[in-house]
This record gives sequence, structure tokens and C-alpha cells, in this order.
Amino acid sequence: MSWETERLEKAKQIIEMYPQKRSALGPLLYLAQDKDGYISNESIVEISGLIGITEVQVQSVASFYSMYKQEPTGKYLLSVCKSISCEISNSSDVINSVKNFTGLSNNETDDENFFTYESVECIGACGGAPAIQINYETVEGLTPDKAVDLCKWLKEEEPEIVVADELQDKFGGVKSFDWAIADNNGATSPVPGFQTYDTSKEKK
Ligand code: FES
Repeated sequence: MSWETERLEKAKQIIEMYPQKRSALGPLLYLAQDKDGYISNESIVEISGLIGITEVQVQSVASFYSMYKQEPTGKYLLSVCKSISCEISNSSDVINSVKNFTGLSNNETDDENFFTYESVECIGACGGAPAIQINYETVEGLTPDKAVDLCKWLKEEEPEIVVADELQDKFGGVKSFDWAIADNNGATSPVPGFQTYDTSKEKK
């Protein structure tokens, strides 16, 4: 057993939400990523035992989806969209400004483990292109200058939680649609801040 009692308890709660144990694989992988910042071999073994599938099956899912990381990322994962809607809205300029500010190439992490940069395929915010995610919290309608302001702000403030609505207000532009329900969960690490996985600071 490599997971601590509290994490195992969360895992059991997640598994109980599904009619079949194996269906909990996706969220359990996020639980693993929340532990180490990536999907470690120990976590693969742990998950395999929890839901009764082989380690190879766990690894094959973990390595297929790019949001599951194979190695640790920095405190802030900067994911800049490079797909077509963003491309025709000058995402290349946003990409260049982020790369210039951080000094990072694709999939690189800086020496302080502060920023990881990646260019990614569509993040579902095409109507608000160009778009970026910070620890999977989305900001739409970014300009190259605002992207730099955002990186500077992260560097100076080092927020423990990043919240999409706050980032959008501070640095965003045109949004794809009115998100309506305020996002007060946010993300506390390079793992999506879904309430189910308890990555939120606010607990009900
Ligand atoms: S193409 Fe960039 S969000 Fe869809």
C-alpha cells in the first residue's frame, strides 16, 4: 500500500459512485496525480488493486490521455491552445509571449518547478479564442500582453488556488459564453479542481 489512509478513503468514496469499480479509473488517476504531481508506478499498482484491473490496463489509460502526466509538472501548468480556432485568432503570438516569458519550450518545466509549459489541442473554449489554461482553469480572449501579465501575476502572487473566473476578470477578454455559475472551486495544483476529488479548498 503506497497511498495514505485519507487518500484510500477518498478512493473508496469515488469507487462507490460507480456501478462497476473499473469505471472509477479516470478520477482515481487524478487522485494519483494529486498525490505526486504525476502518475507514479506505485499509484498504478495501487489503483490496479483497488479496482481489479491489470497494471497494464491502468498504465495504458494513464499514458493515452495527455492530462495524466508521466512526470512531475511545475506548480503552475500553462496549457496554451494551438488548435484551429485559436490559431486563426493569433494564438501563436500568445504562445510566443508565454514561451519568451518562461524561457520554456513545449513540455518543459523550469528549474524551480514553478512553471510547466505545454501547447495543447482544443480545450473547448473556441468561441473565446485564443484560450489558455492555468492548472486546467480556463481563460479566454487572451492577448500576448495579457498572457505575460498573467504569468507575472502568478510569479508575484503565487496563489495557492487558481480560479477561472478570477483569472478571466483579471486577464481575459471575450468569452465563448456566459458561464453563469460562478466557479469558486478552482485548482490547487496541476490537477483539475473537481469537487469530487476534493482538490478544492472550500469544502461543503
Ligand atoms: S481551438 Fe482553442 S479552444 Fe478550441
